[in-house]
Amino acid sequence: MNILITGATSGIGKELALQLTSKGHKVGLMGRRTERLQELKDEIGDIAFIRTLDVTNHEKAEEVYNSLIDEMGGMDVMILNAGIGRIQMLPPWEAESKLIEVNALAFAHGCHFAMDYFRNRESGHIVGMSSMAALLAHHRAAAYTASKHFISNYMKGYRQKAKRMNADITITEIRPGYVWTEMTERAKGMFWVAPVEKAVSQMVTGIEKRKNYVYVTKRWQLLAWVAKLVPEWVWDRL
Ligand SMILES: NC(=O)c1ccc[n+]([C@@H]2O[C@H](COP(=O)([O-])OP(=O)(O)OC[C@H]3O[C@@H](n4cnc5c(N)ncnc54)[C@H](OP(=O)(O)O)[C@@H]3O)[C@@H](O)[C@H]2O)c1
Repeated sequence: MNILITGATSGIGKELALQLTSKGHKVGLMGRRTERLQELKDEIGDIAFIRTLDVTNHEKAEEVYNSLIDEMGGMDVMILNAGIGRIQMLPPWEAESKLIEVNALAFAHGCHFAMDYFRNRESGHIVGMSSMAALLAHHRAAAYTASKHFISNYMKGYRQKAKRMNADITITEIRPGYVWTEMTERAKGMFWVAPVEKAVSQMVTGIEKRKNYVYVTKRWQLLAWVAKLVPEWVWDRL
């Protein structure tokens, strides 16, 4: 299969590239850090195609998606993985608006692009990197949890859209708990943290099975059930 991956320069995206190519899939890899992309291509070889891209530049993103698709000879799966957590270096509002721009707006743009492409082709698979955070709200990460809630709800709507089309399009929402990556390396108070190799291996299985939802690691599904039962006044005290 031909698989495009945004945010492939580190963490989950990079590991997805490594594990998917080890199974023989071709990958189109994107991210802002060109040298990381080149290193990854050198490691993987001919079945990796790379483009430098900031997903918040929508015009450029469309150009890059199309040129990767042309070079690879089509796209079967689009994995929208690029995302950011808290940005410590920026003033609070700039940090929040940047996070929303990357995690929500650029995600929606990628999803929209992929849906158009797969509708014309009458089949395809969109995979979105959501989070367990989609099920929660937190005073220390209001923008992040809201951005993942947006992704989750947006994909739900797109799944309904896909069902109404004359096309075989799967929408997979991946809900990871904590995974060791650059995003979490300085985070405190984490638990059940999964090594990226283990987390991604479960993601790949879920993608191959074309599931609607993939909890990573699996035990986080338990917490998803509990989260739905906990009343708001309890969350407010956490
Ligand atoms: N780690 C966790 O515990 C966890 C849990 C739940 C969900 N997630 C989600 O998993 C996804 C990957 O995160 P990660 O943990 O692997 O963190 P990471 O190692 O920091 O990777 C983030 C990736 O997103 C890319 N990215 C960020 N901003 C971008 C932009 N404007 N344009 C293009 N690419 C951009 C980065 O590439 P460049 O910097 O090169 O652009 C990088 O490749 C995110 O959506 C995150 O929210 C992570």
